[in-house]
Amino acid sequence: MDYIKAVQDISHGSKLAKIYTFGCQQNENDSERIAGILSDMGYGLTDDVNRADFVVFNTCAIRENAEKKVYGILGSIKHVKEMKREMIIALCGCMANEEHNREKIKKTFNWVDIVFGTNSIHRLPGLLYERLQSKKQIISEDEDNQVHEGIKTKRQSKIRAGVPIMYGCNNFCSYCIVPYVRGRERSRSEEDILKEVVEAKHGGCKEIMLLGQNVNSYGGGGDNFARLLEHVSDTGIERIRFMTSHPKDISESVIKVMAERDNICNSLHLPLQSGSSKILKAMNRKYTKEWYLEKVDMIKSYIPDIALTTDIIVGFPGETTPDFEETLDVLGKVRFDMIYSFIFSPRKGTPAEKMEDVISDEEKKRNFERMLDFQNEISLQKNLVLKDAEEYVLTEGESKTNSDFMTGRTESNKIVNFKGDKSLEGEIVKVKITEVGTFSLTGEIKGLR
Ligand code: SAH
Ligand code: SF4
Ligand code: F3S
Repeated sequence: MDYIKAVQDISHGSKLAKIYTFGCQQNENDSERIAGILSDMGYGLTDDVNRADFVVFNTCAIRENAEKKVYGILGSIKHVKEMKREMIIALCGCMANEEHNREKIKKTFNWVDIVFGTNSIHRLPGLLYERLQSKKQIISEDEDNQVHEGIKTKRQSKIRAGVPIMYGCNNFCSYCIVPYVRGRERSRSEEDILKEVVEAKHGGCKEIMLLGQNVNSYGGGGDNFARLLEHVSDTGIERIRFMTSHPKDISESVIKVMAERDNICNSLHLPLQSGSSKILKAMNRKYTKEWYLEKVDMIKSYIPDIALTTDIIVGFPGETTPDFEETLDVLGKVRFDMIYSFIFSPRKGTPAEKMEDVISDEEKKRNFERMLDFQNEISLQKNLVLKDAEEYVLTEGESKTNSDFMTGRTESNKIVNFKGDKSLEGEIVKVKITEVGTFSLTGEIKGLR
């Protein structure tokens, strides 16, 4: 049955949808696919939930506060739904694949109309049709572990595009919910990936971000990701980035391709999680502090000016302050351009949920703050090197804080603000860096590339 047409037939007039997206770039991309399906069904998009006929919550389960945010906003729009009974509310994404959240939605949020999992986006028209016909809460149960192609993407940005290369994760890091809610690793075909990259390029896109929880195991691992990178580079798209790379899997062949190809950006996100080999073992990361440092040396030997970023978890069960100081030691040695840091949040059903803490929450917070101070100084020092340098910046749009300024990113992914107008949007411009801060740079435009 053609559910897209069936939905159009029973819902009259022009309709609006609002999509809330939480979590990572994979979820951003899923929301763009949801937007594509909604647009096929005749929905326009709105930012104003009060005007929406269809509201989607594309959720994240990575930490407790991600879930709290969703329930907070859901609770706050209950009265909108009560006034507007025809409004349909759908909840999807990673929370929708957790049994306890499904139960909570059935019991406490029974006014949520449709619940569907991360790998059921293609089923949305059928689920909506079922809901409109039955007027009952629809909870989609049958998730598969396939790759579903052919879903149109309605992208948020014309300039930068996320392109998934694989879904799911097999690594089962002991703290992480992703393998449970996203299923096992499966890769898209190279043909489908390249088709999407070329289409984006023809649409004016300048930067591609290849997406996967562990891109280095694309196509089963080995040199497959390095070959894919070469072929994506051959399309001639201006800039290529990728994330995430698991340190245990990143290979020399990938780094060589990065070093050889001008259109693969000289920046790499390589999540460390902890600098203590003891904690890394408890996290099931399958590498040691020394192994990580050796990888970084290998990477810097090919690409000396690489910009490295990482993720750190502070307060993992069993982490003492001396263990935590091992992380500071690695930060001092690697000198990352930026870190994303999180306090450990126990996730239901993961092995780390049951592991015991050895230090208090206060001590964890103190360590966390200490790490931020330590890293901010390094980030500032690394940015200071760029003072007076000329950098190529891909202009993304107007600065949010000052409309005389445009904002964009260097190849190393640093934010640069510079005086300019909207005609520069999507252009790669040469900018001389005049001021540096910890999180962004300011510059003067010197010309188009
Ligand atoms: N696939 C990516 C990470 C995806 S999750 C990788 O392997 O690096 C993004 C980040 O969230 C992780 O790198 C980790 O630092 C953090 N994270 C995951 N689970 C967490 C938890 N239970 N508590 C705190 N941070 C967590
Ligand atoms: Fe989570 Fe580890 Fe998989 Fe990353 S590699 S998604 S941290 S289980
Ligand atoms: Fe969150 Fe799911 Fe991404 S748990 S971080 S949205 S894979």
